[in-house]
Amino acid sequence: MMESKFRQTIEFIRELYKSPDKFIPLHAPVFNGNEKKYLTDCIDTTFVSSVGQYVDKFEQMMADYTGAKYAVGVINGTAALHIALMLADVGTKDEVITQPVSFIATTNAIKYTGAQPVFIDIEMDTLGLSADKLESFLKEHTTEGNDGYRYNKNTKKRVKACVPMHTFGHPCRIDQIKTVCEKYNVTLIEDAAESIGSLYKGKHTGTFGDMGIFSFNGNKTITTGGGGMLVTDNTLLAKKAKHLTTQAKVPHQWEYIHDEIGYNYRLINVCAALGVAQLENIENIIENKRETAKLYSNFFATSDIKFFSEPEYARSNFWLSLILMKDKTQRDAFLKETNENGIMTRPIWKLHYKLPMFEDSETYFTENSEHIEKIAVNIPSGIRNNNS
Ligand SMILES: Cc1ncc(COP(=O)(O)O)c(C=O)c1O
Repeated sequence: MMESKFRQTIEFIRELYKSPDKFIPLHAPVFNGNEKKYLTDCIDTTFVSSVGQYVDKFEQMMADYTGAKYAVGVINGTAALHIALMLADVGTKDEVITQPVSFIATTNAIKYTGAQPVFIDIEMDTLGLSADKLESFLKEHTTEGNDGYRYNKNTKKRVKACVPMHTFGHPCRIDQIKTVCEKYNVTLIEDAAESIGSLYKGKHTGTFGDMGIFSFNGNKTITTGGGGMLVTDNTLLAKKAKHLTTQAKVPHQWEYIHDEIGYNYRLINVCAALGVAQLENIENIIENKRETAKLYSNFFATSDIKFFSEPEYARSNFWLSLILMKDKTQRDAFLKETNENGIMTRPIWKLHYKLPMFEDSETYFTENSEHIEKIAVNIPSGIRNNNS
C-alpha cells in the first residue's frame, strides 16, 4: 500500500515536469533571458574578471530588489558569510550561535574565523532558529561582561554573533530573533543564501540583520554559476566588505598598497553578467516555483505525507520543496524508491553537531532538529517549462 502511494507520487512528479522517463533533478538552472547576450558582451569587451559594469550593475540591482542600502558582490555565499563574520569582529575568543539544520557552509564559515559555533534548535513551523530558545540560552547560560557583551558561563567565551538561516527559502521569525539579539548585544547576520525573493511580512529576507548574505550557486533559485552577495544598510560595513574582498588594496593609480590582510573574494564580471540576466527574471521564476509548491500542496493534501508550507506571515520562494514523512522508515523507503526511479530526492543535511569537526560544540534544545532530520525530504523543485 505504501509503495503504491509512492508510485502515485512518482507519476505526479513526472507529470509536473512533463518528463515521462528522464532523470528529474532537485533543481537545475534555467537561462531563457539575456544571459547569452551579456556573457558575449563580457567577452567582446574583454571585461571577464573582477572589474566591469556587470558587477556594479548586479550589486545595484540586488540593493534595489532586496531594499538593502548596499550590496557587495562576493565570489560565493560561503565567502560572503566569512567576510560578514570578520566584519562583526568575530575571532578565536568568540562564539557564534547558529542552527544545527543548515548547509555545511554556515558552520564552516564560523570556524574559518576561529570562533566556536553554538547550536540552538529550530522551530517546527519555520525550520529556522527559535527566538524563544535563543533567548533562553542567552538568559540562562550567559552573563553580561564589563564590556557590555554576553559571555558563555561554561566556556567563558564572548557570544558575539548569531547566524539564523531561512531554510529552503522559508523566512524564519527574523523580527523576534532581531529583538533578542539587540537585547543581548549580539550581532545579527542572516544567512539568506537560499531565500532570494522570500519576504518576511513584506520585507526581503537578509535585510533585518546587521548584515545578510545570499548565494547564487548553480542549485539556487537564480544562479551566477558561483557567486554571492553581502547586503547591509551600514555604510562603513559595506565599504569594509568591498575592501576586504578585494585584497584590501588601497586605491592608487599605480602603487600596490594593501593596509590589512585581504581576500580575493570579489565577484567577477562574467558571473555578475549572468546574475543581471537572472535577476531581470526573478519574479517570473518565483511565481513558477510558487505554483509548483501549490500543486504539490494540493497533491499531498490527502496523503499521510505532509507538504511543508510557508509560514503565514511570509512569501517564500520555495527554493526546495519539502515533505515531511511519518517516520524515518517511511522516509528511507521513499528516498530509495524515488531515486531508483530517476527522481532526485534528498534527506535534509546531517545535524552539524553530529559531524566530526563540530562534535565538541555546545548544543541547546535540539528536539525539533532531531525530529526534522529523520523525516524531511526535498523533492524536485526546479523551474518548470510551462510551454513544453
Ligand atoms: C544555507 C546556506 N548557507 C551558505 C551557502 C553557501 O553558498 P555558496 O555555495 O554560494 O558558497 C549555501 C549554499 O550553497 C546555503 O544553502
